[in-house]
Amino acid sequence: MSDSSYTTTNSGAPVASDQHSMSVGRDGAIALHDHYLVEKLAQFNRERVPERVVHAKGGGAFGSFTTTGDVSQFTSASLFQKGATTDLLVRFSTVAGEQGSPDTWRDPRGFAIKFYTDEGNYDLVGNNTPVFFIRDGIKFPDFIRSQKRLPGTHLRDHDMQWDFWTLQPESAHQVTWLMGDRGLPASWRHMDGFGSHTYQWINAAGERFWVKYHFKTDQGNEILTQAQADQIAGEDADFHIRDLSTAIGRGEHPTWTLSVQVMPYADAADYRFNPFDLTKVWPHADYPLIEVGTMRLDRNPENYFAQIEQAAFAPSNFVPGIAASPDKMLLARIFSYADAHRYRVGTNHAQLPVNAPKAPVHTYSKDGAMRYDFNSSATPVYAPNSFGGPHADAARAGEGYGWESDGELVRAAATLHRDDDDFGQAGTLVRDVLDDAARDRLVSNIAGHVSKVTIPSLRQRVLEYWHNVDATLSLRVAAELDPSAPGADVSAEQVGIPTA
Ligand code: HEM
Repeated sequence: MSDSSYTTTNSGAPVASDQHSMSVGRDGAIALHDHYLVEKLAQFNRERVPERVVHAKGGGAFGSFTTTGDVSQFTSASLFQKGATTDLLVRFSTVAGEQGSPDTWRDPRGFAIKFYTDEGNYDLVGNNTPVFFIRDGIKFPDFIRSQKRLPGTHLRDHDMQWDFWTLQPESAHQVTWLMGDRGLPASWRHMDGFGSHTYQWINAAGERFWVKYHFKTDQGNEILTQAQADQIAGEDADFHIRDLSTAIGRGEHPTWTLSVQVMPYADAADYRFNPFDLTKVWPHADYPLIEVGTMRLDRNPENYFAQIEQAAFAPSNFVPGIAASPDKMLLARIFSYADAHRYRVGTNHAQLPVNAPKAPVHTYSKDGAMRYDFNSSATPVYAPNSFGGPHADAARAGEGYGWESDGELVRAAATLHRDDDDFGQAGTLVRDVLDDAARDRLVSNIAGHVSKVTIPSLRQRVLEYWHNVDATLSLRVAAELDPSAPGADVSAEQVGIPTA
C-alpha cells in the first residue's frame, strides 16, 4: 500500500515530481509522453462546469426543517407533519451577476431549498421577494438578457434594463421591491424568503388547497444603503458568502419561521386577483399566515464545488401532498431547471451526493455519462415486466394533483379577474407598506439608477411608469434625477405628470 503522503496520478500510481516536467536534457523540449504533466494540465482545463445561466453567484449551507404547526388538514406531505424534522440544503444567490460578481449588487436574492424528505427530494426554488417581473415564462430569456450584458461592449446597461421593464408594465411590482430595501439585504441571514408562486397542497383525503410560502428571518430584516453596498462591493465581493459561512462557523445558526397562506381550492375561480399571477401577493387580510415550522442552517459545506456549484434545484421536484398550480411561470420553470441541470452538470446529476435523495430510488433510468450506480443484473430494464421489477403505484393515479382546465390551445394572457392590473399592488406597496424612510430610500435608489439611462425618451417612459405606480413618487424621482446626466432635462411637465 502506498504512503498517503505521496502524490499519485489519477489512476493511483506514485509520481516522481510535482515540480519538474520531463524534458530532453535539463534545457530541452518537454516530452509528450510525460503523461502526468498532460493529466495535470488536461484535468485543470476541465475543472469548471458552465456557471448557472442565472443565479451564478451564490453560497449555501446545510441544516434542517422542523414542523411545529399542524397543517395536516391541508397537506399529506410527510415533511410538513407535526414533529417531522427533515435535512435540507439552502443556496442563496444574486440573479444577474456572474460567478465573481459582488454579492452586494442590487438584485433580487435567490432562496433555493432542497428538502431531503423520506418521500423524495422536495425543492422550493424561491427568492427574497414574493413576486416576480413577468407572468409568462416565454418572456424569461428576453428579461434576463436585458439585465445582463450588451453583446458588443459586454457592459451592463441601464437603457436595456429600463427599456424592458417599461415595455413590460407587469414588472412594476417587482421593480418596486427591487429598487427598495429588498434589493440590498445586509446579509442572507437577514432577509426573508418566499416560494413566490402559488403551489398546490393536497391532504390525505385528497382535498386540494392553494398555498404561498413565507420564510420570515428570525434574525430580523436588515438592509444596506446603496452607498454601503457600493463600498462593500469594492472591498469584499464575497461579503454575503463570508457572512453566512463565518456565522455558522462561530456557532450562530440562522433560523427562519415558515408560514403559509392557504386559499381554499374553490376560491381561486373568482378571487379579486388572479391568484396564480406571480406579479401579485395575496393580502394577509384575505389569507392570514399559518405557522408551519422552523428552518435552521447549521453546517457549512465542506467543498464548494461538490456541494454548492453542482447542487441542482428543480421546481419539478415535488413530493406527495405538494404539486403545481396553473401559474404559467411555474409551469415553464418545471421544464427549464432539470433541462439546465442535464446541460450544466450532466445527465446523471441526480446521482451526486448533494442531489441524491435520501429516500430509496427505484428507477428504470440507466446508463449515460458518468453513471456509476446500477441495479442488479436480475432487475428488468423495462416496465411493465413479469420479473418483479418496480411498478408504478396505480393508487396515485386518482390523487387530484391537477386542476380543471379546458379550451382551445391559445396564446393569450390569463383571464382577467376584476381587480387585475399591472400597477395597483406596486402603488399600495409604496403608499401603505413602506414607511417614510423606506420611501425616501426608494426615491433615491430609483433616481440613482435611472440617472444612468442615456436615452431621453426612455427616461420619459420611466417617469410615466413610476407615475402609474404612484404620482408623488414619480415627481420626487424626476426632481432627484441627476441634472448633469444625459437626458436629465426631461421635466415632470414634459412627461405629462401633473405638478400640482
Ligand atoms: C436558477 C430558469 C424564474 C429562482 C435558474 C436556472 C435556470 C432558471 C435555467 C439555472 C438552474 C441551474 O443551472 O441550476 C428560470 C425560468 C424562469 C425562472 C425559465 C421563468 C419561467 C424564476 C423565479 C424564481 C427563480 C420566478 C423565484 C421565485 C431561481 C433561483 C435559482 C434559479 C433561486 C438558483 C437556484 C440555485 O441556487 O441553484 N432559473 N427561472 N427563477 N432560479 Fe430561475
